[in-house]
Amino acid sequence: MISGRVLQGVVSAHLLAIAGQPVFAGVYLSGDFDALRLHAAGANIVTSIGYLQVIVAVVVWVRLRRYWPFVVSLGVVIAETVQYFAGQDGALWLHIPLGVITVVAVVVQFIAIWQRPPRRTEETARA
Ligand code: HEM
Repeated sequence: MISGRVLQGVVSAHLLAIAGQPVFAGVYLSGDFDALRLHAAGANIVTSIGYLQVIVAVVVWVRLRRYWPFVVSLGVVIAETVQYFAGQDGALWLHIPLGVITVVAVVVQFIAIWQRPPRRTEETARA
């Protein structure tokens, strides 16, 4: 059960971190070049939380026998990794649409993990 709670905490932190990214990008595009530094720092925080989320999701899979959090966490972290390199390369044709998709994916994960927190049931305990 505790691993489910930890996952909820990590996904919440993930959402908080990624929500800042379009804001910093917008401030940067408005002409405040310092905001790119905040966006770059945010990118490191977002991807670090993403990888942490994958590790916690593995623990949830092993302990609670729920694998869907791992599958969705892995999908998001792959998208974020592509996003990171697209940002560094200035490939905005990819970076901006993928950024929007990634933010939406984390919002959906947040809703799913709070609506249906992974917990051990009799059925999963027997498996
Ligand atoms: C809707 C969301 C996002 C938007 C609109 C956005 C937009 C931008 C823009 C406009 C740039 C500047 C590119 C340039 O000047 O060539 C940039 C750079 C960058 N972005 Fe994003 N971004 C978003 C989300 C993210 C996320 C989620 C990550 C991390 C996973 C990320 C990582 C980066 C990195 C590493 C850079 C390069 C920073 C540097 O040059 O120091 N971005 N982004």
